[in-house]
Amino acid sequence: MSELQHMVEGVVAILTEAVRDYSPVVFANSLGAEDMVLTDIINRHELDIAMFSLDTGRLPQETYDLMQTVRTHYRIPLRIYFPKVEQIEAYVAQNGVNGFYESVALRKRCCHIRKVEPLRRALHGKRAWITGIRREQAATRSNLAMAAYDMEHQMQKFNPLLEWSNAQVWQYIKQNDVPYNKLHDRFYPSIGCAPCTRAVTPGEDIRAGRWWWETPENKECGLHVGKVVPIKKV
Ligand code: ADX
Ligand code: SF4
Repeated sequence: MSELQHMVEGVVAILTEAVRDYSPVVFANSLGAEDMVLTDIINRHELDIAMFSLDTGRLPQETYDLMQTVRTHYRIPLRIYFPKVEQIEAYVAQNGVNGFYESVALRKRCCHIRKVEPLRRALHGKRAWITGIRREQAATRSNLAMAAYDMEHQMQKFNPLLEWSNAQVWQYIKQNDVPYNKLHDRFYPSIGCAPCTRAVTPGEDIRAGRWWWETPENKECGLHVGKVVPIKKV
């Protein structure tokens, strides 16, 4: 068995365990490369896991194109959550449509309205959620576990690709003809909202293009900053 096959089997085992022990389970799908690997694995193995994406309203056109492709390419529907319109209107009235460039606080507020609050609704009623986080992605992700209890959302959280390398992600995508965001071919290894993501240059960190005007310790949008504790069986 190749190393990649072995890694895939490990992911299937974790996801199967999640379904067995923590249903209903939901997968937070940003449509980034890692998440397309998970989308493919979940669909291929017909796992009983729902999928959702948070549409911030500021995503790049290429992400919307992929969202549309996922609808026809895969069996599991991708449910889309939007931010609350009153909150967006109030933020824009007070800070302007691009107010997030002005300070870390205003940037985090925008992420809160456009991602964190909708995430809460997307997770409501579930017992576990799945993400495509990898350890290598950021200093802020180096201490994570593959399975942990998410105190903030009061449910299990699984990061089945935690130990995957970027090369393994791409090997899976190419070998299995997985659709992916065309921005990845234009030096965007990590993709978020259009105004907060730029291409990276050779040798730059893979998340250097996310909120590039901020320092690395700030570069989280709030989706994954809650406290997690080691897994506990229920
Ligand atoms: S972020 O915190 O910097 O925005 P990143 O883009 O690395 O996160 O994605 C990490 C994981 O968070 C993804 O694998 C996915 O599970 C979840 N995630 C991030 N953005 C979204 C989104 N827009 N919709 C659904 N899940 C998301
Ligand atoms: Fe707002 Fe930028 Fe955060 Fe998107 S990434 S929610 S546009 S601050």
